[in-house]
Amino acid sequence: MSPFLRLLSGRSARVAQLGLLALGAAVSAFAQADSGRPALRKQGTATQLVADGKPFLILGGELFNSSSSSLAYMEPIWKKAQDLNMNTLLAGLNWELVEPTEGHFDFALVDGLIQGARRNKLHLVFLWFGSWKNGMSSYIPLWVKKDPKRFPRVVLKSGEKREVLTPLAESNWKADAAAFAALMRHIREFDSKDHTVLMMQVENEVGVLNDSRDHSPLAERAFSAPVPKEVLDYLLKSKAQLEPEIRKRWEDAGSKAAGNWEAVFGPGPQTNELFMAWHYARYVDQVTVAGKAAYDIPMYANVWLAEADRPEGSFPSGGPLPYDLDMWRVGAAHVDMFAPDLYAPTFAAWCARYTRNGNPLFIPETMGFGDGPRNVFYAFGEHDAIGTSPFGMDMLGAIPAGAAAPGATTDEPWFPRPAPPDIGTSYGLLAQTAPLLLSHQGRRETAGFVLNKANPKVIRELGAYELEISLDSIFGHTADSGYGLVIATGPDEFMGAGAGFRVAFKPKTAGPARVGIGSVDEGVFKDGQWIPGRRLNGDEDDQGGAWRFDSRAAKVERCVVYRWE
Ligand code: DGJ
Repeated sequence: MSPFLRLLSGRSARVAQLGLLALGAAVSAFAQADSGRPALRKQGTATQLVADGKPFLILGGELFNSSSSSLAYMEPIWKKAQDLNMNTLLAGLNWELVEPTEGHFDFALVDGLIQGARRNKLHLVFLWFGSWKNGMSSYIPLWVKKDPKRFPRVVLKSGEKREVLTPLAESNWKADAAAFAALMRHIREFDSKDHTVLMMQVENEVGVLNDSRDHSPLAERAFSAPVPKEVLDYLLKSKAQLEPEIRKRWEDAGSKAAGNWEAVFGPGPQTNELFMAWHYARYVDQVTVAGKAAYDIPMYANVWLAEADRPEGSFPSGGPLPYDLDMWRVGAAHVDMFAPDLYAPTFAAWCARYTRNGNPLFIPETMGFGDGPRNVFYAFGEHDAIGTSPFGMDMLGAIPAGAAAPGATTDEPWFPRPAPPDIGTSYGLLAQTAPLLLSHQGRRETAGFVLNKANPKVIRELGAYELEISLDSIFGHTADSGYGLVIATGPDEFMGAGAGFRVAFKPKTAGPARVGIGSVDEGVFKDGQWIPGRRLNGDEDDQGGAWRFDSRAAKVERCVVYRWE
């Protein structure tokens, strides 16, 4: 047993301290040797994922929950990921499979997945399905399931015992953290040269379901005990940055600097949520700390989203929802990001909430169809996202190039309605523009947008110009939707990708008042080199009047503007 596992099983504080010191030295020596280890790095206002010294954009796809439990099942899926222009798969790793017997680990599947990804030139983000998956504890090993005395469970207000680990029990987090640390140590040994594994998700959508809090004996005691000092100190110190909902609860209850949970935040389900958030945050943080001590790569927690008027019990209470996020900020300081599973149609509003207070945007789950292939442009162009990942990529299909567009009109066959965008095409364009995007992130030089009849236009200031980006319109047809991103790549030069929009420019600096289109070229980036295709003029740039992206085919275009009067 390693010193760290001994520490986690809590045998002796002295042995643990010595073990931790030795481990610390080993980890720091390793960290020096492994300079290309995946890490987060600031560029302007953006936080980027850096691997092998270079920023990396995760064009990801999350597998269905059970796919990565079988290497044979995975075989055709690797290729599918390539066909969809993905560079990373998000793959579940079950605690039950990694540690089938206590203290005995089986990493054959982990190794096979890493090798499969390498063979197919893909990266991985592993999802640690440990104590919780969608609020439940179905992925815990049988030896944990069978021992509720040692591994206590959540109890509902009604007295009903749930088949769910309580976050309040030390024995629970220690067992989980020991397994996670062993896993991370193994990944370090197997992958610290290649860096196939970029990040880890710690647990999956944590929180209590069917109630707003745990009522187990451990939870009852903690709920009537004083709110921890760290929480109160944080509230006082970070008052101006607090999420509005938590600040209001605290102020409405009298901005107290001491008291139990109901005294400090007032009674009610939202206070129960805050209480659970604190305990889940502490638990996840301790699992994360154990993992990072073994192999320090970025780690995040994902969120089952729920609206502000969420009915009690209908969502996992205590996850890193915006309304509870301050508990996570103070309780889970080693978790690098809080990552929304974003299926909601209010995509932009959730992105805004999950970029407050410097949280980098990573979307581990989203739609691979409908607006999903449009929204990815918005996440990357507008919010400097580290990555996006449609869920259930195993079943997503690219629409073959040239296939008949569903709903194509026959009255004007030369102007068919566009096919709905597919994620493979979106990722193909994003893969081409990724190096440019990465070099301009965090500097107010990129914009991302999704336009429709309800939201036909946005105005963005990029570089020395104001851009009016609106739904494209040509031959009397106004596009139903437009989406894409634009990058200010030089003083008078822009690159864009997407479909169904047009851009008009206004100057923002002193000099001639009018802006004309110098030239528009479509083209592709191949190995980072711009290869121009058609010069787009005439109808294709509205007789020199606008930089246009036709709605019928998503592509990359370069535009040069000039000023005159
Ligand atoms: C969210 C979970 O995080 C995923 O693992 C999966 O269960 C999806 N929901 C299914 O929609």
